[in-house]
Amino acid sequence: MIVLKNSEKYSVFKLKNRKGETLILKISNRQTKFINREINYIKKLKKNWLFYKNKIPKISSHGVFSNGINKGKKYYHQKYIAGQTLTQLIHNKKNKSKKIEKLFKFFLKECIPQLRNETNVKKSNLLEDYKELFFKENKKLNNKNLISNLLKKKHLLINNKSYLNISYCLRTIFKSKKFLKIKQGEFFLSNNSHCNFHGGNIIFPNQNQKNFKIIDPDSSWKVNDPFFSLARLIYTFPHDTMEYDQYFLISKNFSKAAKNETISFNVRLNWTKSIEKKYDYIFRDFYFNLNSNYLRKLLTKEEYIRFNLTMILCFLRGINTNYEPKVTFLNNNSNHFLNKGIFLYLFFLPYLNNLTKYFNEK
Ligand SMILES: Nc1ncnc2c1ncn2[C@@H]1O[C@H](COP(=O)(O)OP(=O)(O)O)[C@@H](O)[C@H]1O
Ligand SMILES: [Mg+2]
Repeated sequence: MIVLKNSEKYSVFKLKNRKGETLILKISNRQTKFINREINYIKKLKKNWLFYKNKIPKISSHGVFSNGINKGKKYYHQKYIAGQTLTQLIHNKKNKSKKIEKLFKFFLKECIPQLRNETNVKKSNLLEDYKELFFKENKKLNNKNLISNLLKKKHLLINNKSYLNISYCLRTIFKSKKFLKIKQGEFFLSNNSHCNFHGGNIIFPNQNQKNFKIIDPDSSWKVNDPFFSLARLIYTFPHDTMEYDQYFLISKNFSKAAKNETISFNVRLNWTKSIEKKYDYIFRDFYFNLNSNYLRKLLTKEEYIRFNLTMILCFLRGINTNYEPKVTFLNNNSNHFLNKGIFLYLFFLPYLNNLTKYFNEK
């Protein structure tokens, strides 16, 4: 058995069964209800959409271990796809930016028509449902000590530039004409959407890279905008950077705490330069060039706005689920440290400031 991934939520292995077939074994490390929800969601997506019937590998069996070290834990087996995930392609030195970009764009073109379909599943003009999603995540953030201390400030200084804080940006966005225009139109949410096109969940098979597969839907949402799937894709850059600990943060504010002083951070990425260049090449424009990037081109104006709103939701959820109450100091130096939630927050804020500007433009 080979370990493919191991986290607090799941352990994922690759193995051969008695028939000699290669399979995935995904074991839940949490309460059974979460993996059950995932299994049911995969089945539902495959049943409801021809697209996912072809794209999500089949679950061949599931059950609960009756013996051994994993006794009582729930698992499922899924067909193994021999290939590389988008994240692995980026990490592989052999692959150049241009080649990955081609696959990335191909993937987007194939998926967007499907996401448009998904929006029709549950027609809703209940903008409140949607705003509710934001407020819920925001509320959770406010209960997290390290984060709530940052949230209280009007500005944060990141890499020597001052940024307006989250609540101020959201207020402006939710008041803007662009947002209200969407509000007037019919609004679409879905309870039938994958919601998780993260780079680790898209597999390009070795034999035929165009026949990509998608695993691991996010079954935790009751409803969401289907464009959230794309938000998770674009979020791959900060997500991987955080997950592989390829960053560190610098701040002097642990020792000094003058009352009205702006809290200031420096964010440093730690990737091998060639890998960072690829992430940058693929993803940068979605964060820093909001008026002309590939999604701006592919999507209608309204869809593009919806996509960016799901980006906000994706970061808020990300900061929440990756929150660590404690920072890890590096080399016993109180200025240099790791903290996943704070890193995501600091990655998010410059983008959110750009987005606020975008919402305020005509
Ligand atoms: N069916 C599969 N075929 C090939 N690789 C897979 C398959 N399922 C999972 N993997 C590998 O295992 C990793 C983790 O699996 P995933 O289901 O995404 O777990 P998690 O929910 O922890 O993200 C994936 O990023 C991928 O590399
Ligand atoms: Mg995954």
